[in-house]
Amino acid sequence: MSVTAVVGLQWGDEAKGKIVDLLTEDHEIIVRYLGGNNAGHTVVVRGEKYKLSLLPSGILHPGKTSVIAAGVVINPRALLEEMDSLTARGVKVDDNLLISDRAHLVMPWHPAEEAVLEQLRGGDAIGTTMRGIGTCYRDKIGRTHAIRLGDLMRPDVFRKKVADVSEQKLAVLKALDPASPPLDPQQIVSEYEEYAARLRPHVIDTTPVLHRAIREGISMLFEGAQGSLLDIDHGTFPFVTSSNSSGCGIHAGSGVPERAIDKMIGVVKAYTTRVGGGPCPTELDNEIGQHIRDEGNEYGTVTGRPRRCGWFDAVATAYGARISGVDTLAIMLLDVLSKLDEVKICEAYEIDGERTTDFPSHAADLARAQPVYRTLPGWKRDITQARKLADLPPEARAYVDAVSRLLECSVEFISVGPDRVQTVTA
Ligand code: GDP
Ligand code: IMO
Ligand code: MG
Repeated sequence: MSVTAVVGLQWGDEAKGKIVDLLTEDHEIIVRYLGGNNAGHTVVVRGEKYKLSLLPSGILHPGKTSVIAAGVVINPRALLEEMDSLTARGVKVDDNLLISDRAHLVMPWHPAEEAVLEQLRGGDAIGTTMRGIGTCYRDKIGRTHAIRLGDLMRPDVFRKKVADVSEQKLAVLKALDPASPPLDPQQIVSEYEEYAARLRPHVIDTTPVLHRAIREGISMLFEGAQGSLLDIDHGTFPFVTSSNSSGCGIHAGSGVPERAIDKMIGVVKAYTTRVGGGPCPTELDNEIGQHIRDEGNEYGTVTGRPRRCGWFDAVATAYGARISGVDTLAIMLLDVLSKLDEVKICEAYEIDGERTTDFPSHAADLARAQPVYRTLPGWKRDITQARKLADLPPEARAYVDAVSRLLECSVEFISVGPDRVQTVTA
């Protein structure tokens, strides 16, 4: 029985959902601990595609318990839609789902505020998913305007909070943009009371549930969202998400201490993608970038935006691995590079003529970083049927070895296609 964590080491979309799905078999409880419906985790099971945003990917496995812990921000409408769509496909979403009453609620004013703030930033926009995630976390930190799921479970408390907060939110929205549509507290309350009735059976203080599981030696799997380089403190600020999306966030978001985790798996794409604004030194704004986008179907699960694509950035990813305290790697989407004559890995940056392998703390410095590449031969062979290391061409193995050495981590999984079975266990 073990406690395992899966975290992305880049800018999200590393295919964490697939690895969580693979590992769920060996774990009893699967925990989402941060983010909200800005996340989009695609899992392919026997040719069937599932897109999960708020529910842990473990929900797809019968007999497992899925937990949405305190650090998640919940849009109840989005959550219920996701629950309903899975139920309609025959997936059980019942007493196998526990939701923390400490989780904060995304309220209708959160996406509205975000839309105005992003618009005001113009060309400097963060390029968020527009789901009200950052504005909800901002209210959580500010406390005065925050509403938690536990408040929604107490009708009197909830009604008063909505009345107080919505009045102030409307004033702010009108000041920022006089054309802002009105907020109707009555309507918000009645809409959210319907959500409350449906969510109530799932709502509990999940922290003691997780503590009891540790005491009893029940295996747990922590499902990361976003990626280490989008971490609010350690990522490419301000082009980040609003929570600790590196390994640092597991303990804060779940209430489970670091020492309880036996294994930290860092998930990386075999190349780089990024959605939204912010520097990305290895981005390829050319036909190779487009080739990667086409081969990897690199369009956002949540917003459908084309993802920015580029070569693997070992400087950025090694930094992600260090802040997340990774034990071993899962290298994903290796098949996407199969048609290229040669492949490149960025092993250092040159910034103002200085060579460095340190990841800059300021976005302006990262924006000036010129990648220093190591070029490796491509393998030019279909690898989607590979199931063991020996099935991979020597050039593909050399690529994996180079990533492993540069990140100073062993490799446990190599993924060669979206399906569960398209995985090499090293
Ligand atoms: P997540 O947010 O980290 O869970 O990743 P996403 O689901 O947003 O993006 C990963 C995408 O890659 C999904 O569409 C997966 O189905 C797909 N995928 C996962 N592993 C592989 C792989 O090894 N090869 C290919 N070609 N696609 C993969
Ligand atoms: P998963 O879990 C990729 C990005 C957004 C934007 C920035 C801030 O699928 O890997 P936000 O809406 O969070 O305030 O947006 O973070 N972003 C992601 N990029 N994958 C994600 O999640 C992301 N979640 C947020 O594109 O640049
Ligand atoms: Mg995703």
